[in-house]
Amino acid sequence: MEVHRPAAGRLCYMIARMTGARRIFELGSGFGYSTLWFARAVAENGGGEVYHTVWDEALSREAQGYIERAGLSHIVRFRVSEATAALRDLPGPFDLIFNDIDKHGYPASLPLIKERLRQGGVLIVDNMLWSGRIFDAQQQDRNTEGIREATRMLFEDRDWSASLLPVRDGLVLALRR
Ligand SMILES: C[S@@+](CC[C@H](N)C(=O)[O-])C[C@H]1O[C@@H](n2cnc3c(N)ncnc32)[C@H](O)[C@@H]1O
Repeated sequence: MEVHRPAAGRLCYMIARMTGARRIFELGSGFGYSTLWFARAVAENGGGEVYHTVWDEALSREAQGYIERAGLSHIVRFRVSEATAALRDLPGPFDLIFNDIDKHGYPASLPLIKERLRQGGVLIVDNMLWSGRIFDAQQQDRNTEGIREATRMLFEDRDWSASLLPVRDGLVLALRR
């Protein structure tokens, strides 16, 4: 599982460890690759919970299998749902939120994420370089535009302190001030 993109996974793990995160929410979790890194970190931080959310039941089941094999089922909570709806249903605060939903959904998800993240908490947003398409003015599809808008929102809002890390497809790391 770690062969194709360990750099981003390992960085997520390190951020979770360095910040001592105990409560993590992931939006758009897929088969559980990123979840596994976060769950390892939370276990090593002394325990807590990582929410895995995806709207595809089969993917959720597949992820449950991997997490079980890794011995981390006691950490991970699974939600089969639209990810922002699942986050809306839960009380905050979270120490860390990871956003990897469909990219056109990024701007609309940010106000809720800001509400659910504790002050001093960390947001990580994936695919912020979008294979370089964000730099190409010809690219005006809704996903590319969603990433551009989310970037503006995170960098212009004084409640966030953000930085774009050119790791794999670009990770924005943002501190909730
Ligand atoms: C990029 S993949 C997940 C990868 C995973 N976060 C990782 O890094 O290993 C995103 C997954 O979330 C699902 N997804 C996208 N938007 C979603 C949303 N708004 N709510 C729930 N699931 C969503 C996609 O169908 C896909 O299975």
